[in-house]
Amino acid sequence: MGFGALRAIPMDKEMTVSIKKVGVIGSGQMGNGIAHVAALAGFDVVLNDVSDDRLKNAMATINGNLSRQVAKKIITEDARKQALDRIASASSLDGLADCDLVIETAVEREEVKRKIFHDVCAVLKPEAIVATNTSSISITRLAASTDRPEKFIGIHFMNPVPQMELVELIRGIATDDDTFDTAKEFVAKLGKQVAVSEDFPAFIVNRILLPMINEAIYTLYEGVGNVEAIDAAMKLGAHHPMGPLELADFIGLDTCLSIMQVLHEGLADSKYRPCPLLVKYVEAGWLGRKTQRGFYDYRGDKPVPTR
Ligand code: CAA
Repeated sequence: MGFGALRAIPMDKEMTVSIKKVGVIGSGQMGNGIAHVAALAGFDVVLNDVSDDRLKNAMATINGNLSRQVAKKIITEDARKQALDRIASASSLDGLADCDLVIETAVEREEVKRKIFHDVCAVLKPEAIVATNTSSISITRLAASTDRPEKFIGIHFMNPVPQMELVELIRGIATDDDTFDTAKEFVAKLGKQVAVSEDFPAFIVNRILLPMINEAIYTLYEGVGNVEAIDAAMKLGAHHPMGPLELADFIGLDTCLSIMQVLHEGLADSKYRPCPLLVKYVEAGWLGRKTQRGFYDYRGDKPVPTR
């Protein structure tokens, strides 16, 4: 489904943007994590989702994750309360109209993202910056479907957002310096570190991490080891904080598959072909933690390997 470029912003209308209000589109694990850290850093946040139920669940998740940080003495109880008070939720994109920066965190399907950009650009201020948290899709291509390619950038957070120090910044071919500098300053205000990636498939982290996860799934598929052995091997043998299959469930197996497909199509190298077992799990709807079942079954009181 193609969306032509919308009303272009005249080039002489370059503006610098100071970020005060941040819109987050999508209230899943990445969206609610970004809303969490932005509110903690003092930004006003509007969390948007088409589903009121998901918005309600997201606010509860954010409160739970903030409470975990209070329990670990990472933040004070006051900070938790103030952060929650800074987050408003909106089930319509109109609620984002006065945001200075909007970050899209929808499902890793390009047509879904392009539709969101088409609709949200129509309500935003001309000077607002539009960012995507995509894990792998071309920033340049996504930017071209908006009315503001110069003000479009990839701001790629890692899961879980409150704990992971890194954010990848990816410029599209048209992203201007002011947008890049503003995004860099925003990430620094979140207390995170920036890695700058060129706009190539899966950027840096996922270009390296997902083939490793895919290889772990091949290791399972070919019967080299079972789920427990593979995850124990990498946790104890390589000091990974989570085993690759546990991590795949945490990221979401549908997201893992999308990233491998982007690598395989974008780099045209068979080494990136997704493991057939990953495809099978996604086709079964076993997407990991978010569906209570993936390489582990999370429906009991402790995760049980499904293979
Ligand atoms: N949201 C959801 N779950 C969270 C969380 C959060 N903000 N913070 C912690 N958790 C979970 C942990 O997974 C753990 O779950 P279980 O008890 O069910 O196992 C539990 O809460 C306890 O976590 P702790 O707070 O005690 O923290 P920890 O010391 O156990 O570390 C962790 C948790 C930070 C997730 C750590 O295991 C880790 O760093 N794992 C690796 C994560 C990783 O590699 N992320 C990058 C993935 S790539 C990516 O994200 C990019 C992409 O585009 C896909």
